[in-house]
Amino acid sequence: MDDIKHILSIDQFDRIGIEEIFKLSATLEKETNAGDYLQGKILATLFFEPSTRTRLSFEAAFIKLGGQILSVENAFDNSSNKKGEPASECAKTISNYADFIVFRHPEGNSASEVAKVANCPIINAGSGSSEHPTQAILDLYTIWKEKGQIDGLKICIIGDLKHARTINSLKKALANFDVELFELDNFSGDMHELPEGTIEKCDVIYMTRNQIERHGNVALNIKFALGHGHDLKLKEKAIVLHPLPRGYEIDPSFDADPRARYWAQVKNGIAVRQALILYLAGYIKL
Ligand code: NCD
Repeated sequence: MDDIKHILSIDQFDRIGIEEIFKLSATLEKETNAGDYLQGKILATLFFEPSTRTRLSFEAAFIKLGGQILSVENAFDNSSNKKGEPASECAKTISNYADFIVFRHPEGNSASEVAKVANCPIINAGSGSSEHPTQAILDLYTIWKEKGQIDGLKICIIGDLKHARTINSLKKALANFDVELFELDNFSGDMHELPEGTIEKCDVIYMTRNQIERHGNVALNIKFALGHGHDLKLKEKAIVLHPLPRGYEIDPSFDADPRARYWAQVKNGIAVRQALILYLAGYIKL
């Protein structure tokens, strides 16, 4: 279905496109009549992996735009996939009932495969370890809102570098900006340590949990954690982001620290996902 627009990879968005999404998201955050945009439209969420934020923020975003929702969660059990129907054919079926499909699946190329057969736009809401493009845009939006700009920032990514799709998409998205990027694999022993003092000089600390479901390795020597009575070694004006859910790497006691901005990041998911849906619906061109 070549003429249908999808959101499959962060590679689709250049800097100008990302900044257009920022602007529309900021407008939508203040919009009081957003309920007129998508009246009569249906968004389906089809999730083969667990989700709290991504699925429900897409659904909330769409409802706030005036549309309605069809939702399949735990789709390995709750769709005809259980009877042997391929995920792509489940999505193809749903694309006859819905105007947009938000799709999550553990295989890396799953969303692209679905886009080949569906009759409506597909939004990749997480494809294995490979991509989570809408999360990357909301991560950047949060940095932009919190710090006023992205260029010039020192950003440290601390997490499961090889398996976190949020990190893969975020790194590609950041390549559009002039940032200094540092990386620390928090859960595997085979990555180099950061030079002394790196974390202390960063403006943004982006953390993820260990993606145990992808590799089964429970990390015993976490290199960097916040809370737990550790001495904090962060810049006073730094911000800490996390796509959530979190693991040991951020203790809930750290939430009271003004640098903890991951709950604001959660909230930004609504406006950014509204903006992305409106882009697919043709309200803006990128
Ligand atoms: C992430 C995901 O599903 O990749 N969660 C999310 O969408 N906010 C991060 C994770 O599960 O670690």
